[in-house]
Amino acid sequence: MTILVTGAAGNVGRYVVDYLVQAGQRVRALTRDPENTNFPEGVEVVYGDLTVPASLGPALNGVTSMHLITFTSEGYGPLQTGREIVKLAKEAGVQKTTVLWSGTNGPVEQAVEDSGLEWTFLQPTPEFMSNALLWAESIRSEGVVREPFGDSLDAMIHPADVGSVAATALTTSGHAGKIYTLTGPEVLTISGKVRTISAAIGRHIDFVELTEEQARERMRKKGADEETIDFVIGWHANPPKSAYTVVPTVEQVTGHPARTFARWVSEHVQHFNNP
Ligand SMILES: NC(=O)c1ccc[n+]([C@@H]2O[C@H](COP(=O)([O-])OP(=O)(O)OC[C@H]3O[C@@H](n4cnc5c(N)ncnc54)[C@H](OP(=O)(O)O)[C@@H]3O)[C@@H](O)[C@H]2O)c1
Repeated sequence: MTILVTGAAGNVGRYVVDYLVQAGQRVRALTRDPENTNFPEGVEVVYGDLTVPASLGPALNGVTSMHLITFTSEGYGPLQTGREIVKLAKEAGVQKTTVLWSGTNGPVEQAVEDSGLEWTFLQPTPEFMSNALLWAESIRSEGVVREPFGDSLDAMIHPADVGSVAATALTTSGHAGKIYTLTGPEVLTISGKVRTISAAIGRHIDFVELTEEQARERMRKKGADEETIDFVIGWHANPPKSAYTVVPTVEQVTGHPARTFARWVSEHVQHFNNP
């Protein structure tokens, strides 16, 4: 009874691994870089690239359940290999899967829905709290955060809560065919998030609101393509209601309330303080 976790070294996957280990499950972690991982003792680490389904044989051998990501870091586009991955998983004996949604239904979601596998979709609709790590360098070096749309609303979610829901769905019954929309417990603006970090480090942080064009230019300089820029800017300029509407799913599924941003900051405060 091995559970395969894809994206195991990622923001959500590392927590899926942790919760499954805590629940006493046998866990196999998939990564393209097995030499550079730091998983809890007892986790089996295997190489596999989801864009190359033929590489997944050893990872899927003996697996009965899995946690699936639906994107690839290259370009952050949806994985185009959903059908092949799901076919191989079924042939290997996988019966149950959780699926981490990327914002749109892509080939993985479609293949899973058509597969006859017992599935649970996890749809974190707001941002992950871990995105605030993108501000760590400018907070440490200049005491500043620069973003557009300072009043944009977001019910950001702790990746641990997504991981906890995934582990619960994989290890308990009653989750088959469910689409879980997941949010954090409160609605915040960017300037509110900055104030929370400022309170935790005991230092004032300036919030500088970029214009939309400045934000686009910054993304271009980092190499983002125009389609990605349009998606990200559009999301922040005009977030969907589901991104700023708190829902109680985390607590309903896991039995614990969704974690606050203040808690996430307290767990990561070292990233915002100068050494
Ligand atoms: N960030 C947000 O605010 C947010 C909000 C809502 C939803 N989401 C969605 O949540 C998902 C996670 O996003 P994230 O930004 O937090 O990413 P992340 O977890 O940091 O993603 C990186 C993980 O994906 C794995 N991975 C990427 N391409 C792979 C491939 N070709 N084969 C095997 N593994 C591969 C990486 O494995 P390796 O160890 O091999 O590198 C790594 O574990 C995305 O679908 C995103 O759209 C994100």
